[in-house]
Amino acid sequence: MSKNPVDKLSGFAVVTGASTGIGFELARLAARDGCSLLLVADEPMDRAEAAARDAGAARVETLEADLGTEAGVDALAAAIGTRAVDVLFANAGEGQGGAFLDQDWDSVASTIDTNIKGTVSLLHRTGREMRARGSGRILVTGSIAGEIPGPLNLTYNATKAFIDDFCVGLAEELKDTGVVISCLLPGATDTHFFERADMEDTRLAESAGSSLAGVDPAQVARHGYEALLKGETQKVSGLMNKLQHVFAGVLPDEMLAKMHRHLAVSST
Ligand SMILES: NC(=O)c1ccc[n+]([C@@H]2O[C@H](COP(=O)([O-])OP(=O)(O)OC[C@H]3O[C@@H](n4cnc5c(N)ncnc54)[C@H](OP(=O)(O)O)[C@@H]3O)[C@@H](O)[C@H]2O)c1
Repeated sequence: MSKNPVDKLSGFAVVTGASTGIGFELARLAARDGCSLLLVADEPMDRAEAAARDAGAARVETLEADLGTEAGVDALAAAIGTRAVDVLFANAGEGQGGAFLDQDWDSVASTIDTNIKGTVSLLHRTGREMRARGSGRILVTGSIAGEIPGPLNLTYNATKAFIDDFCVGLAEELKDTGVVISCLLPGATDTHFFERADMEDTRLAESAGSSLAGVDPAQVARHGYEALLKGETQKVSGLMNKLQHVFAGVLPDEMLAKMHRHLAVSST
């Protein structure tokens, strides 16, 4: 379903997870539309800042903050200050490969805190302000992984199940408020995600980088960006993922879990 379609984005845009991958590309798209940008990640963003300037951003600021912590989310709120956020790209996210019980609790908690708590907290703060103004657009990066129980990347898939579901519900709550929320569901995409998740030697990572099924983050970002312009509530990026989306709706969860295990098991 489409709501309040627009031809381009404008004004002040916040992009989380903007240092690399899908967020880096989302920032460039918003820059091309002439938005002023606040780029956020937990590492320096010189490359993203330069790319956004080259692409035509009206203004670019960066903030290094861990959005899996309250201090990080507060730092972002302070950086936004009293400015109205016209567009929010809530994209920062992380995963952690391997068997759940073999993982450190801190890394499990960090995935939950970043993907769920940090994201939802940002949606709560920014969404309230947008609703009061009667305008604003939000793109959240969920995942097709949220539709599949994810052995060997278990916490990640479960956090994305929460996010995918949450966004559709929030879109329904926000209808008729002037605020548009879209959720992008990418499949395996060729970014730093698998390296950061220690999953480089898995079939999932191979599929993200292969020339056959491999998916370019610029293409994925464009799918999400266009969905946000159109006001589509949910956007599955890519033909293979659309098929997976259909299968996930009909196959038993146990079968999906077995399939995921096959893709996420380490080859070493
Ligand atoms: N790649 C895939 O296959 C795939 C598929 C479906 C969905 N997604 C989702 O797409 C989004 C972007 O990921 P990507 O694929 O582009 O991977 P990526 O290249 O690893 O980018 C992730 C971004 O999020 C930032 N980030 C992670 N944890 C953070 C934290 N605690 N605080 C602040 N920033 C944080 C990272 O920067 P720092 O690490 O420096 O903080 C980086 O900018 C994520 O939500 C991911 O779950 C990815």
